[in-house]
Amino acid sequence: MAHTDTQILIEQAKSVLRKNDMGGWSRPDPGLYIHQWLWDSFFIAIGQRHYDIERAKAEARSPFRAQWKNGMLPHIIFGDADGYHAGPELWHCERSPMAPDNFQTSGVTQPPMAAEAVVRVGQKLTAKERKEWYHEMYPRVLAYHQWFYRERCPRGDGLPVIVLSWETGMDNTPPWMHIMHQFAMGLRAQLIQQANFTSIMERFRKDTEDVGVPAEERISTIDLYAVYDLIKALRKYKYDSEKIISEHRLRIVDVAFSCILIRANELLKEMADEIGEELPDDIKHAMHVAPHALETLWDSKTQQYYNRNVLTGKLVKIPTVSTFMPLYSGVLPKERVKTLVAQMHDPKTFGTPFPIPTTPINSSYFRPNRYWQGPTWVNMNWLLADGLERNGERVEAKGLRDRTIDMVARGGMYEYFSPMTAEPAGAKDFSWTAALTIDMLSKDN
Ligand code: SER
Repeated sequence: MAHTDTQILIEQAKSVLRKNDMGGWSRPDPGLYIHQWLWDSFFIAIGQRHYDIERAKAEARSPFRAQWKNGMLPHIIFGDADGYHAGPELWHCERSPMAPDNFQTSGVTQPPMAAEAVVRVGQKLTAKERKEWYHEMYPRVLAYHQWFYRERCPRGDGLPVIVLSWETGMDNTPPWMHIMHQFAMGLRAQLIQQANFTSIMERFRKDTEDVGVPAEERISTIDLYAVYDLIKALRKYKYDSEKIISEHRLRIVDVAFSCILIRANELLKEMADEIGEELPDDIKHAMHVAPHALETLWDSKTQQYYNRNVLTGKLVKIPTVSTFMPLYSGVLPKERVKTLVAQMHDPKTFGTPFPIPTTPINSSYFRPNRYWQGPTWVNMNWLLADGLERNGERVEAKGLRDRTIDMVARGGMYEYFSPMTAEPAGAKDFSWTAALTIDMLSKDN
């Protein structure tokens, strides 16, 4: 890309981030996501570090202001804006004694990108400043990671149990929707489905036309109401992990989430080493056992990684982009790298003109513009390009970044894109698309 085009794109991206800057924290977009989201903020800080390091530090710090007393970082921190479809009145987090005193939040988490953001910000600091930064952030990130092993890891195998598709950040990813329909449809969702009320209920949705996003680009109505019902179930358990882990109807070991946590522990160790701390035994144990557990999610017949339904103990063999995430984990067996790279290029599945589609094009779920059931997302490409690079696939990593930048240059700073045409979809002026575009365009990313 020519130098001037790069500059123009960076300026466009910065103006999106300015527009979504709420003063010390950012909203993902101005219409649909009007509060603060967890992994969004960490991706945003990764972009901001290239031009305003203090602002990037503030962004990476901001999710911790509502850290729960048990260490969990909630996936939404609610601000003052009105009109969000799943606001504090749905969650009622004050029912948990662990909820923070001064903030209203959701009651679940999101993929743990905290350590990545803290370390990436640290890369832009002098050695002395970095030590101070790590001294400040290490205990908070550590408390978050320890929450997973204390409360969400009953098998002690280093992989967390995830209890709502919103925790994965990939809200309507096919394997989760499949399991939800089989095992975890609440009564109301069942009634809506049986009575064919979907189109009536669609009119009550507040996350589509009202905020400028067509319904066919979002999670389906029935799936959305089923998710609301599951939130009500979690709220009934008062967000008590012991109850959730023994009784909740939706419990999944998620490949992508697991890979992000595995990588996050490695980054946590980097922080600990730099400030002369020793990682506690629970984290060391998890780092030791998680790579073996991750291998149990590999299916040698289809040569893919899949989620495991904890209720049945079985892999759910519905392919998605998550199959590539072990590249990001840093613990992928070497002999498997080429297999995954070849699949990324297969024109029958993931090898689309604007890769990587979240669902392969030969899947019955595939829709080029429907949220996590087909479109290409900039954050997934960012994670996978990083993973490719650390697995020695530098040319592949560069190719993926270049095609991602090309897609954003054509489509604009949208939430997601058609993998076939780069036509944009979802929310406009989307912060992480902007932030990660800046990062990918920066030479030293
Ligand atoms: N992505 C969900 C929503 O649609 C919440 O995390 O609001």
